[in-house]
Amino acid sequence: MRALRGVRSLSSRSERTVGVIGLGLMGHGIAQTAAEKGYNVVAIELEDKFLAGGLARVDDSVRKLASKAVAKGKMDERAAAAHVESTMARITATTDRDALSACDIVIEAMIEDLALKEKLYTEIGRVVGDECIIASNTSSLSISRMAAYCGRPGQMVGMHFFNPVQLMKLVEVVRTDATEAAIFARAMSFVESLEKRPVECIDTPGFVVNRLLVPYVCSAILLVERGVASPRDVDTAMKLGAGHPMGPVALADYVGLDTTLSIISGWNAEFPEEQAFT
Ligand code: CAA
Repeated sequence: MRALRGVRSLSSRSERTVGVIGLGLMGHGIAQTAAEKGYNVVAIELEDKFLAGGLARVDDSVRKLASKAVAKGKMDERAAAAHVESTMARITATTDRDALSACDIVIEAMIEDLALKEKLYTEIGRVVGDECIIASNTSSLSISRMAAYCGRPGQMVGMHFFNPVQLMKLVEVVRTDATEAAIFARAMSFVESLEKRPVECIDTPGFVVNRLLVPYVCSAILLVERGVASPRDVDTAMKLGAGHPMGPVALADYVGLDTTLSIISGWNAEFPEEQAFT
């Protein structure tokens, strides 16, 4: 049974408990993926209502994936029900950030607000142990800056997942000049244990995927604005002409127009000479 493969190798892992901060679009998928692979998950949110919303999303998604596994003959009904129950049981939801002290790895997936991150990382640095991997799922902010906020630069990596986390196979694992080699190696192994493919990257704006994808999506919006083609035709062109699963206009909606705008305008302000960010 595919979903249990990770569980069998649990004894050989150095990580056991994963903290996920933020249960929104990305965080709920990260928490779910870790719990499905047998990790204990401590899920942190600012308020109980956000925890409830995130857990409801996880519940929906894990049920959907389990029923698809049944339909494909990969699990029987009983195993699927047990998988849903054990996945949900592995997630402890709390608003108490001190619970992060029990974690071997903490993955932050909060909104991209630097003031909020500064406060949060200061607290993470105070609470976690000396062996804990501290990972940010940021799509566009500097990992080094967050490393400075937490005061534990050797323990800090970027761990950038893609939406929908449950289905997308890639994770960018980002090192800064200060990231310890052992921490980076453990971060790479952790990603592999989720049955995802890690790619290594240095700390630069957008890493690999967003550095290419965000200017591409913005160019598609410019084509629409200039009347070159309709949104639908731009999407059809890239799906049928370039083999993309989703066109750039649909992708901008899927990622979130607010997120896309905040990434490109943040880069534009910081790197005004870079033409790709205008
Ligand atoms: N949980 C469980 N099931 C899910 C799901 C989720 N979160 N999301 C989708 N599914 C299910 C769908 O419901 C569907 O189920 P059925 O077959 O039962 O209908 C199935 O997965 C496949 O979905 P689709 O029918 O929509 O089929 P698809 O083949 O088009 O796959 C997709 C969907 C994986 C999203 C695909 O369209 C795709 O790869 N799109 C591109 C996504 C992408 O580029 N993501 C990266 C965005 S950039 C980013 O995330 C980084 C950032 O920092 C901004």
